[in-house]
Amino acid sequence: MTEVASVLYAREDIRRRVEELGRTIAGDYVGREPVLVSVLTGGAVFLADLVRRIDLPVETHFMAISRYGDAEESMGRVQILLDVDADLTGRDVILVEDIIDTGMTSRYLLSVLAGRQPASLEICTLLDRSVRRIVPLEPRYVGFECPDAFVIGYGLDFMDRYRSLSDIVRIDDLNALRDDPDLLSPLLTDAAA
Ligand code: IMP
Ligand code: MG
Repeated sequence: MTEVASVLYAREDIRRRVEELGRTIAGDYVGREPVLVSVLTGGAVFLADLVRRIDLPVETHFMAISRYGDAEESMGRVQILLDVDADLTGRDVILVEDIIDTGMTSRYLLSVLAGRQPASLEICTLLDRSVRRIVPLEPRYVGFECPDAFVIGYGLDFMDRYRSLSDIVRIDDLNALRDDPDLLSPLLTDAAA
């Protein structure tokens, strides 16, 4: 693609994997109506595709949190900006994440959701960068094991850019992108990208 970035998971790989995850979840929750809780903004793209692959009645909700960190790292200090507007007591809740890195964000969200007395609580993450984990956390559903490189696309951003890319793209030269955050904008308009 470029020396700065390369496709890690192409849209077709993502589509297939999301379909498999949907089937697995549907099988695990048969006869129940799981509540999928996703985190804005990154998780929205994955959630939208995932719910359409789960052959069960599901409820979807969003949470929004603020992070105090730099563009690439979350420091685990979070504040809830938008909360689930439903009673989760006795419900089967699945936290849907774009990527779990250190695990700090997910641990915080899990503790918030656990406080609402759900019948069950699991995590479904599209990407799991487990090599960077600080907080022990074992998501039940994982799309792909993510290498130790920054990734963009399919909801994932660099400074709020590149979420609309259909593929998941790894950044091979993060310094080049830090110098010019719009460096990869041709990918957004190139229909063949
Ligand atoms: P954690 O709290 O360290 O697990 O960070 C998780 C959050 O950081 C994710 O939900 C993303 O919003 C963000 N994040 C972590 N790694 C990446 C990445 O490679 N690309 C884009 N966002 C990332
Ligand atoms: Mg982000």
